Amino acid sequence: MSVLAVKHLSKSFGGVVAVGELGFEVACGHVTSLIGPNGAGKTSVFNCITGFYRPEAGEIVFGGENIAGKPPYQITGRGICRTFQNIRLFNALTVVENVAAGQHTRTGCGLLRCLFRTRRLQREERDVRERSFHWLEFVGLADYWDHQARQLPYGDQRRLEIARALASEPTLLLLDEPAAGLNYNERERLLALIQSILQLGVTVVMIEHDMGLVMRISDHIVVLDYGRKIAEGPPDVVRNDQLVIDAYLGGYPDAVS
Ligand SMILES: Nc1ncnc2c1ncn2[C@@H]1O[C@H](COP(=O)(O)OP(=O)(O)OP(=O)(O)O)[C@@H](O)[C@H]1O
Ligand SMILES: [Mg+2]
Repeated sequence: MSVLAVKHLSKSFGGVVAVGELGFEVACGHVTSLIGPNGAGKTSVFNCITGFYRPEAGEIVFGGENIAGKPPYQITGRGICRTFQNIRLFNALTVVENVAAGQHTRTGCGLLRCLFRTRRLQREERDVRERSFHWLEFVGLADYWDHQARQLPYGDQRRLEIARALASEPTLLLLDEPAAGLNYNERERLLALIQSILQLGVTVVMIEHDMGLVMRISDHIVVLDYGRKIAEGPPDVVRNDQLVIDAYLGGYPDAVS
């Protein structure tokens, strides 16, 4: 069963086709990876799915509805959340405050209630804090709850971004190069974290250049080149696809093993 279906999706910038007539489906509860060379259009696909870019054509079907062109807050509210290729944390806020910020789509604080700090608001604040600690424990950062986000080592910042995304309780989580810049141990922790996210029943779509990680964790891989899909399938099929080896790997099949 698919949780997301992208159909004939297109997005251009001037003469550059970032995404061209792209179609793929994301199976519920699985890991789908988007791979391809730099500039292939991977992040643009995420930007279209999450409403950061308005596609020129195509459909993005999620929850039985075409969400293409809807604003980001509505898409998050429907259960899709993402992390960014370049970490985007609130650097001056604490770790727990960053996770709390991820829950704004789930709380209903109107202006009047905020001004008068009603009992309901106080209860909501307490719930947000408890849930924030829950997600910090989930990613292994609870001990650092009062540190400023900018003080965390790089690998922990990446996990904090994931905690913030999970705090909006998505059914579909999009990770844009989650392993970029991680050392070996951090990468292994990331792999375990993605596996525990799957156990929650959250479906994962991942953009990643780290082929070792992609081949180990993906159920399905979609390969892009110049905005178009050149191959898709399980890791074993993609690894041996000549078009993929030529386009992405410069003709070196060892790079995909
Ligand atoms: N906002 C934008 N304005 C102009 N061009 C853009 C914009 N966003 C993407 N592009 C162009 O679209 C193409 C695809 O970019 P995109 O960032 O989606 O690639 P990518 O596969 O994520 O690459 P990388 O692996 O380097 O992150 C590139 O040619 C890029 O320059
Ligand atoms: Mg990118």
